[in-house]
Amino acid sequence: MGHVFVAGSINMDVVATADRHPQIGETVVGREMLYSPGGKGANQAVAAAKLGAATTLIACLGDDAFGRDLRAFLSAQGVDLTFVKTAAGAQTGTAVITVAHADNTIVVIPGANALVSAADIGTANLAKGDAAVSQFEIAPAAIHAFFLRARAAGATTILNPAPAIAFDRGLLELADILILNETELGFLTRSELRGADDPARFVEAARSLQDGGNGRDRITCVTLGRRGAIALAGGESLVIPGRVVEAVDTTGAGDCFIGAVAAQLADGKPIRDALNYANIAASICVQRMGAATSMPTTAEMNAATSAATRIPHRTGETAVGSPT
Ligand code: RIB
Repeated sequence: MGHVFVAGSINMDVVATADRHPQIGETVVGREMLYSPGGKGANQAVAAAKLGAATTLIACLGDDAFGRDLRAFLSAQGVDLTFVKTAAGAQTGTAVITVAHADNTIVVIPGANALVSAADIGTANLAKGDAAVSQFEIAPAAIHAFFLRARAAGATTILNPAPAIAFDRGLLELADILILNETELGFLTRSELRGADDPARFVEAARSLQDGGNGRDRITCVTLGRRGAIALAGGESLVIPGRVVEAVDTTGAGDCFIGAVAAQLADGKPIRDALNYANIAASICVQRMGAATSMPTTAEMNAATSAATRIPHRTGETAVGSPT
């Protein structure tokens, strides 16, 4: 089995829940305030580790109480933290999140995440069969160095271009797999896309990202929230229908999906199976509050996958089908 390496952010999520999101200039009275482990890199690493992959995170924490709490949390999830440095005098990354009706808005303050550098990729021992995952909450130069090293070792590179920011397209050339949501796809392809659009529009936009250079076809997967995901892989378009669940908080669901894909690919699974598995994982994640704390275990996945293939046994009962 291969190893999952994630180069990315670690944040303390400061979450306010409310009955609705405020308008600009408006104050609403909320319900609860939570401090919860997050950051796209940490969330993806926890998802992969909890789903059974040996997982190493390359990241930077501040020299503060949040940093100490997050280090202890990540270690308890089984994530290897050998390459997580602590920067003296820096603040740990934070994200201010509002959650209402399961949907969120997020403002990220990078703090120590901005200090992850190309040098930190250092001696990470990437090998053929590994999965190397990154996102845009650390410096592009560090991601570039990480992907170059992964490519040289024969590992599969997975880029999650989130949050949507302008970046050097040379980085795209180093991504074997792109996993992004509809907002990021719209930004990257300069298209006007909305969540409710016909899936054909997403497929069309994703097609423009398929050429991975040097005769390679890049796999592009667009996550569509409750509508599931679509992917272009090896000339095929795959449709992964969403699962009907009661969502409580969608924060980190995309990260859960990505961590699960990485864990499955490192385990040698074909991309179609990996995407279906990840879709189920994300549907579990949205049913609880928090990001890194909501990642499913393999036991939960086994229960969900066997329920998904169960034949309805009572008149009028509907089994949730395995996405195909
Ligand atoms: O993708 C969700 C994550 O985005 C949150 O955990 C927050 O920290 C931000 O990085």
